[in-house]
Formats: sequence, C-alpha cells, structure tokens
Amino acid sequence: MPQQATEKALLAANWKMNPVDGGEAVDLVRGVMPAITAATESVEVALFPPFPWLLGVAEVLEGSSIELGAQDCFWEISGAYTGEVSPAMLKGWCQWVIVGHSERRVILGETDDMVARKAAAVLTNGLSVIVCVGELEDHYDAGRSDEIVTAQVKASLANCSADDSSRLVIAYEPVWAIGSGKNADPEHAYKTMRLIRRVVSELIGAGAARKVRVLYGGSVNAANVESYVELPLCDGCLVGGASLKAEEFAKIVKVTSEVYGHR
Ligand code: 13P
Repeated sequence: MPQQATEKALLAANWKMNPVDGGEAVDLVRGVMPAITAATESVEVALFPPFPWLLGVAEVLEGSSIELGAQDCFWEISGAYTGEVSPAMLKGWCQWVIVGHSERRVILGETDDMVARKAAAVLTNGLSVIVCVGELEDHYDAGRSDEIVTAQVKASLANCSADDSSRLVIAYEPVWAIGSGKNADPEHAYKTMRLIRRVVSELIGAGAARKVRVLYGGSVNAANVESYVELPLCDGCLVGGASLKAEEFAKIVKVTSEVYGHR
C-alpha cells in the first residue's frame, strides 16, 4: 500500500541562480508546459525561478495548473531589511517558498533558527513551504545522518503546528548528493524519509503528520527519478540541475506520472 500524503506526486523545480537571461527563463517554462499539462492528473509541479523572473514566469503560467514559488524569503513582513523579500510580497503570484536550502545554510550561514522563522512566516502568510534538510558528506560517512536530520527537522519546524500540515513539505536533500551526480541510494533516502515522518509525527501528532509531504532531492534526473517516486513514503522530488533542461525535466514529469498513474 502506498503511504504517500497525497494521491499526486509533487515535483519541485529549483532553478537556483539560473538562467541569467529572463528570455531563457520564459523559454524554459514554455518548453516544459506541455509535458506538465499532460500529467496534471497524477503530478503537481511547482517551478522556482530566481526572484527577477517570477513575474514574467507567472504571466506565462497564468491559467495553467503549474504552480510558482520563490527560492527563499525573509521572516518579517516589511521594514528596513535591505535586499530581503517578504512572504507578503510573494503572496500575489507565488503559492510556494523554499526555505533552508543547504546552499543557503552552507554558503550564507543560515541557521536552523532562521529557517524556523522563515518557515513560520511563509505559513502565516498563507503560502506553502518546502523546508530543506540534509546531512553533509562528513556526517554521512560518519554514520551521523539520522542524528543530523532529526535535529534539523526539529529545529526548523519549531514554529510550525498541526494546522500547517497540508502546506508543509520537507525535502530531504543530502548535501553530498546535490549537484554532484552522486544521487543517494534509494534505500538510504527511504530510511531517512521514514525517520523524517517519525520526527514530524512526534512534533505535530501522527494525524497531522500524515498530511505532510516528504520529497527527495539530490542529483535527480530522468534516469533515476523512478527509483525515488516509487518508494513508499516518498511524495515526489526536488529537482535542481535537471529542471533547467526542458527535455530532461519533461521526461522526469512523464516517468513520475507513469509511476503514479499505476497506483
Ligand atoms: P541537483 O538536482 O542539481 O543535485 O540539485 C538538487 C537541489 O539542490 C534542489 O534543491
């Protein structure tokens, strides 16, 4: 029996700081739209372009079922916070925000406390949130993945409640698997996603935790996506590099819809 939180898979396309050109961003959306539209019955897709392209991408997506999100936001609503963007500003055209991506944790020094504040701000503003967690390679090699991920989940969800569960997604992204071409062994991903569900149950109660979706991310591509989306307890994937190639991402959507269509 599948034990996913929803009947549809969720595929989130994190474009990171790409493409540099706004026209290319629009072309990329146009390139993936037919495959996503063909799969809407079994796959929910959210695109996460860089901030400057959100508006242009939103225009292209208007009237489609494809969702839009930002890759980060601040926890305050407005004020003297130079360079920051608040969830209230994103609310008009985004449904989603990613918080706590490892690139922000590692490169920019974001802490669990900051991630917890951001997650709460996103939810308070009526948006859905993808909270990213994952161990570093050293932790993985030392057999400390469970300990690290448990601590990150507990701390990052410190301000979340059972009421948030249907708008709360946790992406398990082992840092060593991101952009490395070394995707995690599905067995390791499965065990860690099972652990995440257990920790979330302890935090917000088993009933609410069942509505929380858990994704895998880290070197997902068209050739390996099936090995994750077919896992019990996996609700979909957070895709980085492969989401920048229209044909590759279209294949990822197709493979996922085939797995979910057979359920
Ligand atoms: P890659 O798919 O490029 O490994 O990136 C994963 C990721 O960080 C998505 O948020």
